[in-house]
Amino acid sequence: MNAVTSPILEARALQRFYPVNRGLFKQPATVHALDGVSFSVQAGRTLAVVGESGCGKSTLARLLTMIESPTAGQLLIDGTDVTEADEAQRRTLRRQIQIVFQNPYGSLNPRQTVGDALTEPLLVNGQGDAKSREADARAMMKLVGLREEHFQRYPHMFSGGQRQRIAIARALMLKPRVLVLDEPVSALDVSIRAQVLNLLADLQQQLGVAYIFISHDLGVVRHVADEVMVMYLGRCVERGPRDAVFDSPRHPYTRALLSATPTVDPALRRERIILKGELPSPIDRPSGCPFRTRCPLAFDQCAKAMPPLERRGEQDVACWAVTG
Ligand SMILES: Nc1ncnc2c1ncn2[C@@H]1O[C@H](COP(=O)(O)OP(=O)(O)O)[C@@H](O)[C@H]1O
Ligand code: SF4
Ligand SMILES: [Mg+2]
Repeated sequence: MNAVTSPILEARALQRFYPVNRGLFKQPATVHALDGVSFSVQAGRTLAVVGESGCGKSTLARLLTMIESPTAGQLLIDGTDVTEADEAQRRTLRRQIQIVFQNPYGSLNPRQTVGDALTEPLLVNGQGDAKSREADARAMMKLVGLREEHFQRYPHMFSGGQRQRIAIARALMLKPRVLVLDEPVSALDVSIRAQVLNLLADLQQQLGVAYIFISHDLGVVRHVADEVMVMYLGRCVERGPRDAVFDSPRHPYTRALLSATPTVDPALRRERIILKGELPSPIDRPSGCPFRTRCPLAFDQCAKAMPPLERRGEQDVACWAVTG
């Protein structure tokens, strides 16, 4: 049977703008943090979102986890449109999609034991009784590789890697269908990263949870992603299967990012493309293609109109210079 599975998460032209005051004598401005981003993710799969700092990754994470509402666009969780849902539906949907932040120091309450941190989401959602919540928390600790005696300990008694295990365990307590991981290993020592990444891979296999894996580190993304979405100034510039994006990147920005990523395999080594200039402000974005002020291929058309995201081979690319 060739069943077509519907996506567990779908974003349709998601936008998030922020009004900002620029001082007494200046007009208020608008930050275009996220400007029309679309994608879908299947259960048990990983979409990696990559791009430089400030391109809108954490804004996207806040929209997906319903911490903030989009300025425009739609978000569907298991086919239900979050933007149309009433409060009761939103509560149910919110359980389906949980987040793990970069900094496990900030996301765990220092005065809460591991046991309390893990049972709290169940308590808040009125699930089970004290005994069953403790049993669920202990089972989850085992699943993420924490020991029995850790139940009564406080976050400061753990290393960064262990703390991120606790944050992951807490995020999984309500059995979400999607986990948004916002730079989950960026704050960890390189020696610990692989352990946490392996844990995430095991958990995905066992639980069938989908990941939105946000990272600026292409080396990490290459390990974890099924699909990759490359962002620049709030927009998706290239999106597609991991191997297509890594082995034959089409957008000049993706090419530049990849050329700057160290690789051990000499066959994959590319001549480094140095981008000129600074990342423009999302308040004053260039006309037309947002990448044109730094693009080595820019030509007249690029200032005139925004290139649409179009299918090029296996991936979708937004660039006037990439045809066929
Ligand atoms: N609450 C906010 N108010 C104003 N600007 C914001 C707010 N949140 C984010 N931004 C701006 O939106 C842009 C995208 O930010 P962010 O999503 O944090 O990017 P990333 O996570 O990729 O580094 C940045 O220019 C940031 O300064
Ligand atoms: S549209 Fe033009 S400026 Fe933008 S990436 Fe393509 S060639 Fe460069
Ligand atoms: Mg961020």
